[in-house]
Amino acid sequence: MRKIIIGNWKMNPGSLKEAQVIFNDILKMVKGLKNTEIIICPPSLFLSIGDKLKIKNISLGAQNVFEEMNGAYTGEVSTKMLSSLGVKYVILGHSERRNLGETNKIINKKILATLKEKLLPILCIGENTRDNNGFYLAFIKHQIIECLANIPKAQIKNIIIAYEPIWAIGDKAINEATKDEFIEIQIFIKKIIADIYDIKTANTIKIIYGGSVHSSNAKEFIDGGADGLLVGRDSLSPKKFKEIIEIIK
Ligand code: PGA
Repeated sequence: MRKIIIGNWKMNPGSLKEAQVIFNDILKMVKGLKNTEIIICPPSLFLSIGDKLKIKNISLGAQNVFEEMNGAYTGEVSTKMLSSLGVKYVILGHSERRNLGETNKIINKKILATLKEKLLPILCIGENTRDNNGFYLAFIKHQIIECLANIPKAQIKNIIIAYEPIWAIGDKAINEATKDEFIEIQIFIKKIIADIYDIKTANTIKIIYGGSVHSSNAKEFIDGGADGLLVGRDSLSPKKFKEIIEIIK
């Protein structure tokens, strides 16, 4: 199956010019790539770097979107606007946005709006910490149930779930996650989806891993059955990103 490698640039780089340089470098390395889909998610303001993007295997994603279609919402960006720029995916529910006050209910509205515009949501979930009593599992279950409320069964195949344990994200990460920790959550996610819908539907959802993915651990998660990876820091360095792509392809 095709593996998905997402580059989440967050609020980087500092200018459109720099963004274009990084993107052009990435474009060069994806030509001829087989069985791998690269999704680059720059800040919304820089989504024009992929103007008239017609190369197979690479798409653009946004890092967020607003749930309403248009109107008096100062500072917001709609799904339609993203569509008009050729965007295909939208990251939703990233822990850094949840930290800014985004709730599961808001994320759910954004997922519904995204699917309505025929864009594909990348739903991020993940716990703050792991405890010995399994409370983190209840936390993840709650996130999934609330974020996927009212999503029709037929749409589940269009959603990517990114398991991103918060303790493993960014340069302040407490620890790196292991393959086994990913596998545990992957099975758990499928079980929750099977309980909400059915087993067949649970098997259509793509589950990827994110949080301090580097070329040193990328293979581990793919070997563990991840459908792909969500890369933060290392996606801003074409050299490091290339190393990850090389390993996966
Ligand atoms: P990181 O970020 O790879 O820098 O840990 C991942 C993410 O936040 O999506």
